[in-house]
Amino acid sequence: MRALVITGVTDGIGLATLRLALTEDVFVIGVARNREKAQAIMDDLKSPRLAFVFGDLSSKKEVVSISEQILTLLHVEKLHLSTLIHVAGAVFTKREVSEDGYEKQFAINHLAVFYLTKLLTPELIKNGPSRVLVVSSYTHHLGIIFKKEVGLKHNYWLLTAYAQSKLMNVLFVNESAKRFPSREISFYAIDPGLVNTSIASKQTKGLERWAWSIKKKYGVAPEVPAKHMVAIALGDYYAEKTGLYWKDGAPIPCAKKAKNPVLMKWVYDYSAKLCEEGN
Ligand SMILES: NC(=O)c1ccc[n+]([C@@H]2O[C@H](COP(=O)([O-])OP(=O)(O)OC[C@H]3O[C@@H](n4cnc5c(N)ncnc54)[C@H](OP(=O)(O)O)[C@@H]3O)[C@@H](O)[C@H]2O)c1
Repeated sequence: MRALVITGVTDGIGLATLRLALTEDVFVIGVARNREKAQAIMDDLKSPRLAFVFGDLSSKKEVVSISEQILTLLHVEKLHLSTLIHVAGAVFTKREVSEDGYEKQFAINHLAVFYLTKLLTPELIKNGPSRVLVVSSYTHHLGIIFKKEVGLKHNYWLLTAYAQSKLMNVLFVNESAKRFPSREISFYAIDPGLVNTSIASKQTKGLERWAWSIKKKYGVAPEVPAKHMVAIALGDYYAEKTGLYWKDGAPIPCAKKAKNPVLMKWVYDYSAKLCEEGN
C-alpha cells in the first residue's frame, strides 16, 4: 500500500491534512513530538491505516531517529513511501537555540525539512515518481538570507527569523527540483494563506501573541489548505509538476529572490554541510 508521511499532524493544518488524507486509499504516517496528542488522535480516528512516529524536529539526532522509525514502519507494514508532506512549523518571540546550537525557527522550519527529505530520498526514489510538499508562506517575500549569521544572534526578531526560514523552504524546493528529475521526485512549495491556527499562541508572548489572537480570526479554516494539499499530494493532475509555488491548488509566482540560482545552491549546500556535521 502507498504511504504518506506528514509532519506537524497534531494541530492546525497538519491535523486537517491527516484527517483528509485518511479518506483516500493510503496509509498515513504522522510525525509528532507530543505522544498524548498523538494518542488522542489515534483514539478519535481509530484507523488501521494510521501510525505515528515520534521526535522533536529541532534536533538533528531526533530527525535521524524519526527517519529510522519511518523506515522500520514501512518495512513491517510493507508500505511504499511515495509522498512526504512537511507541515510542522513554529514561531518564537524570544530567540531560542536548539540542542545542536541552531536558532530554532531555522532548525524546525527549514533544516528539519532538508534533513528528513535527505534521509528519506532513497525510499522516495525507489517508489518514484514521488512527491515532496513543503509548507512555506507568503511571508517568504519578506525573507532575507543572512548568510554570515543565519542564526540571527544580533538581529533576532520573530518575523525576521520566520521569513528567512520560509524563504529557505522555497529556495530548497526550487533547488531540489533542479537536482532531481521529476520521474524520481517532484517538489512543491505550498502557500496555505492565512489560516486560523494556534501557531503564534504557543512559544510567543506579549504583542506578538496578542496580534495573532486578532489576526488569526481573519484566517480560513485549516481544512481549506488541507484540501489543496491532499489534491497536490495524490491527484494525477499534479504529478511531476515540480518546482512550483502553489496557492489554493494553483501555481502562482514566488518571490523573485526565491529563484536566484546562487541563493538556491547556497541554501542547499549550507544545509547539507550542517547535516553532515556531527554524524
Ligand atoms: N497559520 C497560518 O496562517 C500559516 C500561514 C502560512 C504558513 N503556515 C505554515 O503552516 C505550517 C503549519 O502551521 P499551523 O498554522 O498549522 O501551526 P500549528 O497549528 O501550531 O501546527 C504546527 C505543527 O507543528 C508541530 N511542531 C512544532 N514544532 C515542532 C517540533 N519541534 N517538532 C515536531 N513537531 C513540531 C506542532 O506540534 P504540537 O501540536 O506539539 O505543537 C504542530 O503539530 C507551518 O509550517 C507554518 O509556518 C501557517
